[in-house]
Amino acid sequence: MALVDSFGRIATDLRVSVTDRCDLRCLYCMPEEGLTWTPSDEILSFAEIERLLRVMQTLGVTTIRLTGGEPLMRRDLPNLIARIKQLGVEDISMTTNGTMLARHADALKRAGLRRVNVSLDSLDHDRFTMITRRDRLERVLEGLNAASSVGLSPVKINCVIVRGVNDDEVVAFAELARVTGFDVRFIEYLPLDADQQWTAAGVVPSAELITRIDATYELEAEVALEAAPSRNFRFADGAPGSVGFIASVTEPFCESCNRIRLTADGQFRSCLFSVKELDLRAMIRGGAEDAEMASAIVASVANKQAGHGIGTPVFVRPARSMSAIGG
Ligand code: 5AD
Ligand code: SF4
Repeated sequence: MALVDSFGRIATDLRVSVTDRCDLRCLYCMPEEGLTWTPSDEILSFAEIERLLRVMQTLGVTTIRLTGGEPLMRRDLPNLIARIKQLGVEDISMTTNGTMLARHADALKRAGLRRVNVSLDSLDHDRFTMITRRDRLERVLEGLNAASSVGLSPVKINCVIVRGVNDDEVVAFAELARVTGFDVRFIEYLPLDADQQWTAAGVVPSAELITRIDATYELEAEVALEAAPSRNFRFADGAPGSVGFIASVTEPFCESCNRIRLTADGQFRSCLFSVKELDLRAMIRGGAEDAEMASAIVASVANKQAGHGIGTPVFVRPARSMSAIGG
C-alpha cells in the first residue's frame, strides 16, 4: 500500500503538530486573545505519535517536520525527536517561531533534529512586536544564531509577507540572507488566519517580490528540486544565503504536493485546506489495529482534493486556523 491520490500524487512528507499552543499571537494566524487550547488529554502522546508514524512509514512516508502552534511549547521535545530518529527517519525538521530556540537548540540537534525553519516577519523591533503582539525579536534572533552555531543546517527563515504590513522589508530580508547565509523563504499570505481578516489585497504575489529583490541584488534561479514548493534563487554576485518564494496563492503547487498532516489532537489531513479530517486519535484510543489505520489513511489520501481553489467560488475555508493545523 502507498499513499497515492486519484491524481497520481504520492505523499511522503508528513507534518506532525505536537501542540496547538503558542507564545506569540501573529496577526495573520491567531486572535490577539489567543485561542482555546486543546485540553492535554486530547493531545496525542509521544507513544501515540510514534505508533502512527510507524504505520505511515509502511505507507511510504520518509520525511517528518514537527510543527505547532509552537512545537517548543511541548515539553520534552528532544525525546520525541530521538524516538523518531530511532524509527530510521533521516530527515527530521521543525518549524518554530524561534523564541525558545536558543535554550533548546543544542538538545534538539543532539536528539537528531537536522534542520529548522524559523518564522520571522520583521527585522524592525516595533513592527515585530506589532505583528506578533509580543516583544520577542531579540530572542528570535538569538535563536537563529544558536541554531546555526549548533549545526542545524540549513537554517531557513519563513517570512509571511502581507501588503501594507511588512512588504517594505523584502530587500532587508534578502540582505539578512546575504550576511548570515540563511535561506529566506517568502510565503504568500493564506486565508488561514483565525480572525478571518484575510483578503486577496493582502497577498503580495511572489513574482512582484522577485522583481523587487532582483532590482537590488541580481538573482539566479536554482534548479528546482522535485516537489519543492518554493522557487529558489542564489545571488548572482556569489553572496551566501538564498531567497525562495512560496507562491501558494498566485502560483499554486497543488499538483506536485507530497505533504500530509497530523494535528496535535490526532486528526489526519490530506491537505492543508482539507475540510474533512480522519480521526486517528479515536481509532488509536478505540483499539484499532495498525492495518485498519493504514487503510483509513490510504482512503483519506485517495480522496484528496485536486487543489485548494483559493480565489475561486469553490473555495471553502477550513474551520481550523494555521496554528491549529501546523502549517
Ligand atoms: N498565511 C501564510 N503563512 C502563515 N503562517 C501562519 N499563518 C499563515 C498565513 N495566514 C506560517 C507561519 C509559519 C508557518 C507555520 O506558517 O509564519 O512560518
Ligand atoms: Fe504562533 Fe506561528 Fe501562529 Fe505566529 S504563526 S501565532 S508563531 S503558531
